[in-house]
Amino acid sequence: MIKKAVIPVAGYGIRFLPITKAVPKEMLPIIDRPVIDFIVEEAIESGIEEIIFVTSKKKKAIKKYFGKAKKLKKHLIKKQKNNELIQLEKTYKKAKITYVLQNEMKGLGHAVLLTQNITNGEPFVLMLGDDMYNNNGSNVTAQLINSYKNVKKTVLGTIEIDIKDSNKYGICEPESKINHLIKLRSVIEKPDQINAPSNIAISGRYILTPKIYKYLKTQKPGKDGEIQLTDAINRLISEEDVFAKIIKNKRYDIGTKADYVEAILDSSKLRKLM
Ligand code: UTP
Repeated sequence: MIKKAVIPVAGYGIRFLPITKAVPKEMLPIIDRPVIDFIVEEAIESGIEEIIFVTSKKKKAIKKYFGKAKKLKKHLIKKQKNNELIQLEKTYKKAKITYVLQNEMKGLGHAVLLTQNITNGEPFVLMLGDDMYNNNGSNVTAQLINSYKNVKKTVLGTIEIDIKDSNKYGICEPESKINHLIKLRSVIEKPDQINAPSNIAISGRYILTPKIYKYLKTQKPGKDGEIQLTDAINRLISEEDVFAKIIKNKRYDIGTKADYVEAILDSSKLRKLM
C-alpha cells in the first residue's frame, strides 16, 4: 500500500564540517557501508519499491554508490574476485531509484515539495538519513506502515527525549491516545524547553499523505529561514488527523559526532571484523 520512500539528501551537513566539504554526510562510512545504505536497506525490507532521493549537484557520490560500476565489475570477474564481486553487487538495490534535484537548499519542507509529481497522489514514507535505527527484530519503517494501515492518516515516528533537548526537534502536543498511537493537537519546530508541549520528538521517519503538498506549497519560511515540514504538518492538523507513534528501537543521531561513533561501534559488535 505504501510503496514509495522519499529520502532528502541535499542538505549541506554543516554540523559535520569540514569532512562534508567533500564527502556528503549520507556517505560517511559505518565501517564499509555508508549511512545511506542502511536507510535504503530499512526501506526495502519494509516493502518499499521506489526510492526517491532529493539530491543536489554536490552529492554525485550517492548516485555513484547505487549505480552500476561496469568497469570495476568486469575487472573483478576477470580476476575471479568472487567475494569482492558479491560485495559490489550488494549495492544494486532491488528497488527503483529516482533522483530529484534541489537547486537551492530552502529547507526540508521545500525538499519534500519537489517530490509531488513522483509520489503521484500516493501516501509515502519520508526517511531522513540523520536518523539511523537499529532495525534488528523490528523494522522502524514497517512499524509506521502498519500503523498507517489502521488509521490511513499521517503518522509521525517519534521518540521520547530529555526535555532540555526540545530545541533540536519538532515537538508534538498530544491530544489523546488511540490504541498504540497518539492523536496530535499540534506540532512545533524546535521550541525552547519552556514552550515545549511534551517530550515527544519527531525523529526522522514520517508516513505522509498527499494532502501535505497543499500546505507545503503555501508554507512561509519558519525557524532558521527555512521552509519547515513541521510547520506544514501543523497546518494540516486543522484538516486531517495526524498521529504520533513512539519508536522504541535504539536510535543514532548521525548528525552528532558522538552518536555516529556509537553507530560504528555497535555495528562492529554485530559482525566479525577481519
Ligand atoms: P538537516 O538540517 O538535519 O540536515 O536536514 P543538513 O542541512 O544536511 O545538516 P546541517 O544542519 O547542515 O548539519 C534533514 C534532512 O533534510 C535534508 C538533509 O540532507 C537531511 O537529510 N535537506 C535539508 C534537504 O534535502 N534539503 C534542504 O534544503 C534541507
